Amino acid sequence: MRRARPLLAAPLALAARQALAAPLPESGFGMPRDVSADGHLVDWLIHYTLVAATIIFVVVLAVMIWSFARHGRGHLAEYTHGSKASAGVLLGAIGFIAVAVDGNLFYRTLVDMNEVFWNFGALEKDPAAVRIEVNAHQWAWLARYPGPDGKFGTEDDIVTLDDIRVPVGVPVVIQLASTDVIHSLYLPNFRVKRDAVPGMVNWLTFKASEPGEYEIGCAQHCGPNHYKMRGVLTVLTPERYREWVETMSRDARRAYDPEDKEAHWAWDWRSY
Ligand code: CUA
Repeated sequence: MRRARPLLAAPLALAARQALAAPLPESGFGMPRDVSADGHLVDWLIHYTLVAATIIFVVVLAVMIWSFARHGRGHLAEYTHGSKASAGVLLGAIGFIAVAVDGNLFYRTLVDMNEVFWNFGALEKDPAAVRIEVNAHQWAWLARYPGPDGKFGTEDDIVTLDDIRVPVGVPVVIQLASTDVIHSLYLPNFRVKRDAVPGMVNWLTFKASEPGEYEIGCAQHCGPNHYKMRGVLTVLTPERYREWVETMSRDARRAYDPEDKEAHWAWDWRSY
């Protein structure tokens, strides 16, 4: 048995690496690497919450420990309503936390949503923006690009499976739909996630800041193979992206089959 270990070690290590076939290895601590222009806004909210909760936890714990130490068995119980001053301190602390923590988080969230994460109207007007229709189904992600003609549902449309490619540094605007159940397009490295709901089109946007390969996940339990609903999001340099679009749409035109009704699931791009 002892001898088997070194023999098994190599294949096991290989299997472990393959099982983790994540496009880029993550440290396993903290959040996935942020490779987006605006992900730091989300990280700020999370870190701020963490710091505030830690401070409140330590203060409350200190008061509790102090109370236990002070009011031991020898301490006579006393009945009190507190004083005006103690009520003032308590209400002041609650008010301060409500404004400085919850209020601040709420305000920052509204500003970030308005200016970045839900700012679809302004983003889609950007001529450099890349528009993609994503169609979720059990259990894969279909992505459709309009091709050089800029129109969805034409013969130069590029359609990919579990493989979304975008250029670095430009806004990517995604319209998201589902053909069966609720899925959720999750891009952890870009700090965005949005549900794909049957019967409606949802929006999602991000801007990549670093070329590379990143994970696409589904974040709603959508059936027995939910865990398999993964893909790779590849961020390319603008030149590589242009080349890819050219090659892919040329192939798409060649392979276009007007009879293949199932392949024609495009919808007209909706304005926000
Ligand atoms: Cu789709 Cu989980």
